[in-house]
Amino acid sequence: MISFDREQQIFHLQTEHSSYLIGIFAGKCLLHIHYGRRVEHCADMFAMMDKPAESRYDWNPKCMELGEQFALCEQTLELPTFGDGDYRSPGFHGEYADGSTVSKLYYTGHRIFAGKQALGELPSAYTEAGDQTVTLEITLADQLTGLRAYLYYTVYPAWDIITRSVRYENGGTAPILLKKVDSAVVDFDRMNFDFVHFYGTWARERQMERRPLFYGDQSVDSSRGASSHTQNPFVCLSAREATEDFGEVYGLNLIYSGNFHAGAYVDTFGKTRLYIGINSFDFSWKLDCGESFQTPEAILAYSHSGFAALSHRMHSFVHKRICRGQFRDIRRPVLINNWEATYFDFDEEKLVKLAEKAASVGVELMVLDDGWFGHRDDDRSSLGDWYEHRGRLPGGLEPLVERIHALGMKFGLWVEPEMISEDSELYRAHPDWCIHTAGRRCSEGRHQLVLDLSRPEVCDYLIEILSRLFSRVSVEYIKWDMNRNMTEVCSAALPPDRQREVAHRYMIGLYRVLGTLKQRFPHILMEGCAGGGGRFDLGMLCYFDQIWLSDDTDAVERQYIQTGSSYGYPFSVMGAHVSACPNHQTGRVTPFHTRGYAAMPGQFGYELDLDKLTEGELEEVRQQIRLYKELAPVFHDGTFYRICSPETDWKTVWEFVSPDRKTVVVEIFTVQAQAAAPMERFCLKGLQPDALYTDRLTGRQYWGDVLMHIGLMRARKQDYDGEMLILEQTAAGAKR
Ligand code: GLA
Repeated sequence: MISFDREQQIFHLQTEHSSYLIGIFAGKCLLHIHYGRRVEHCADMFAMMDKPAESRYDWNPKCMELGEQFALCEQTLELPTFGDGDYRSPGFHGEYADGSTVSKLYYTGHRIFAGKQALGELPSAYTEAGDQTVTLEITLADQLTGLRAYLYYTVYPAWDIITRSVRYENGGTAPILLKKVDSAVVDFDRMNFDFVHFYGTWARERQMERRPLFYGDQSVDSSRGASSHTQNPFVCLSAREATEDFGEVYGLNLIYSGNFHAGAYVDTFGKTRLYIGINSFDFSWKLDCGESFQTPEAILAYSHSGFAALSHRMHSFVHKRICRGQFRDIRRPVLINNWEATYFDFDEEKLVKLAEKAASVGVELMVLDDGWFGHRDDDRSSLGDWYEHRGRLPGGLEPLVERIHALGMKFGLWVEPEMISEDSELYRAHPDWCIHTAGRRCSEGRHQLVLDLSRPEVCDYLIEILSRLFSRVSVEYIKWDMNRNMTEVCSAALPPDRQREVAHRYMIGLYRVLGTLKQRFPHILMEGCAGGGGRFDLGMLCYFDQIWLSDDTDAVERQYIQTGSSYGYPFSVMGAHVSACPNHQTGRVTPFHTRGYAAMPGQFGYELDLDKLTEGELEEVRQQIRLYKELAPVFHDGTFYRICSPETDWKTVWEFVSPDRKTVVVEIFTVQAQAAAPMERFCLKGLQPDALYTDRLTGRQYWGDVLMHIGLMRARKQDYDGEMLILEQTAAGAKR
């Protein structure tokens, strides 16, 4: 709900547990008053100050339009700009035709409306009937330059989420160079927070780091042309003492898949500015007269009861208001992917043999990975040539697909459309279609170059070639890969003064390609991938039903990656597979059941040569698939709790509670065993205290309050061991 107090000149945005207050000072300047715990009453703009709006330091320049005593750098601001006395990292920075960089964006009007506006070419969170979403649009204008800013705030009351974005419009008479266009800035008048972010690299994505704020700027970013393995746009600001179940936590994410930055800037007065947006480094956008620029949408989530509640809000919001399409609410097929089973060494017979075995144990979808096209015998050629490799598939894809379908399985195909190999028909026909800088040799990543999706004709070509492929071959699933980051970023199609727009134009082009294909082929399940989790973000999740979380399939490392990812993202979007041992990435040997338990909460599948499994292991596969089919609704629609962390506890305990709280799945993994291992206690969460729960395997019964407040005990006896407890509510009185 959003209200405007005309007398006080204050906007009050309310979700179920949070309030966000903005004031209009002197009829002009937007001040940020509060974001945090919900209040019922409107505060006055300088509620707690003894001398409102009166500078306490001669040294701070005063903004004379706002008052002889008004220093911007002493205030908490809603859309901070640069040039008239605020020296913190601004939310907007632009350069005007006369070379000046001073912006004064003052309030000119607002409107409040039900629902939410579309974001033009960019993906955004959506609403459904009954959400009671309301949007506030505030208009600011700079009289001198004609620049206008439209600030959007959409309130999702039940989720405790507010989405924000800004649209800039050039209403002046000369072009304006946009240099920094953050999607959201939130000022706090304190710094006693921790900054939490998720760093990583290929095959080790989203490791959590939490550290106290220090004076100055602390930020994470990507300039790789993708949100990247190395940092994720999801960040948190938490109270220093916050735990899983206690304390204030703010979550911030961006619906964007390209270069971003997110950070906290602490100024000399101990005030914190939290910000997120397109990375301003190596970015600029020339905004011609009459044109608009829309920033990506930011998601702001708030919890006053720790990280668990924040994650729950993010999980259901991402699942239900970011992810979309016909697969959102249904169980996805269990798949087998041939990559780690065969790599490039396969032909039709080998694939059919793998599929036959897979079908016999209950797998539902056969995915043909890299190597089926052009003359791709290794990773040095053929990206761009999306027709069959006749050496491997002499009859093409159709006969193979028919044979897979005859087994009662669905068929899936790997593509990497954004890339081009120098050794390809496409490159020979269009050498200038790759991202490159004239006169400089292109750096290569995995021997490949990046197609220039900032060019509309390249996007049109991709839409056409892929539409033809998906229409000709009866595919029910696509794995959309992207295996290198951008370098030498320039486009042959843009003038010099627009070259710094290429990376963002690429994202707009990519979203158009994905959106068009999704619209034309809504029945195809799409899994995103970028060398594993190199583009695991909300932008991609507006198009992809799920994302291959990491190329690391090791059951132990996956506990870290999946735990880290779970802070901001639900298990329903994480592709997770059982693979062979010794594991291909780490060489580690883990029990087969542990691999099953580690992968099962995600979008489940197998990625190994089933022919190499023993009869006993094949039987385990059958059981795992049966169990997965039964428990998928608990994993994907239930509530997830991080009970023990692999990082700090040397064991991982994950708990999933079904929406009706009648089924509880607890997964316990030993990361590192200990000699003379003591019994370690852990308590479950989210149960009905006065309900009786029965352990399906042992028949032992426990009361909900006992499981939550006294807990279960286990010893860490065996490295990498895994255990799954299924607890089911028993009718009262059925206690033995
Ligand atoms: C990337 C993907 C893998 C696999 C290979 C194929 O690394 O993440 O899953 O598809 O490409 O080349």
